[in-house]
Amino acid sequence: MSTYTITDARKVTTKRVRDMKAAGEKIAMLTGYDFTMASLLDQAGIDVILVGDSASNVMQGNLTTVPITLDEMIIYGRSVVRACKRALVLIDMPFGTYQGDPIDAQRNAVRIMQETGADGVKLEGGREILDNVKMILRAGIPVCAHLGLTPQSINQFGSYATRATTDEEAQRLLIDAQALSQAGCFMLVMEKIPAELAARVTRSIAIPTIGIGAGAGTDGQVLVMQDMLGLNMGFKPKFLRLYDHMGEQMINSVGNYISDVKNGAFPTADESY
Ligand code: KIV
Repeated sequence: MSTYTITDARKVTTKRVRDMKAAGEKIAMLTGYDFTMASLLDQAGIDVILVGDSASNVMQGNLTTVPITLDEMIIYGRSVVRACKRALVLIDMPFGTYQGDPIDAQRNAVRIMQETGADGVKLEGGREILDNVKMILRAGIPVCAHLGLTPQSINQFGSYATRATTDEEAQRLLIDAQALSQAGCFMLVMEKIPAELAARVTRSIAIPTIGIGAGAGTDGQVLVMQDMLGLNMGFKPKFLRLYDHMGEQMINSVGNYISDVKNGAFPTADESY
């Protein structure tokens, strides 16, 4: 059974996560992509579920997040929203759906909100997409920004190495974070950057920050659910803590089922009509 007790069963809202930052209460976020798993995360008391475009990797088997489409994200998003009573649900805007014409960016964000019932969208980038972020915010859509390692730009960077390790890049990230916060984003994800920089950004902006590979100084943490449950076997970057070994357990359980079917041990008379 869970070691965590939910003390406040009210729906988590964008105001609530801001209040959590103000109160010094850490925000727990995980990715989720389907009804069954999201329902379990919600029952466990997770604050935020991110329907990440990491679905491209963990649900679809692609090497990067680039191939996933808006229609596919909407299908995953809708399934997660249906499962959640308490968690705030955020949906990633996929590659190519928000970087061009601001009107198109707003239209795509509106589609996500209308067709899924999510609480907000997340998108990657800093000042280069600020006009588009403002256009989405103008429609009344909560936006979570994402800086540092931005996997949708993998083809430009060519590696998943730690970002903002030089003074110049760190300064650029800090100014991006401040611009996104001032523009009205309600939250900021920072991925794979030095812990000291993430803590500095967290202190310097009004909105909550969520880290992944960004140390302990952020207002909350996010991990990909499959990774932290040990379903994505063999994937063990430094920032990941394994909370389970479900991949091994599943292979074992499925193996037991196969044996039972093959040797006639399943089903028994009690399991038959
Ligand atoms: O898509 C995703 O899962 C993400 C998290 C890693 C933050 O963006």
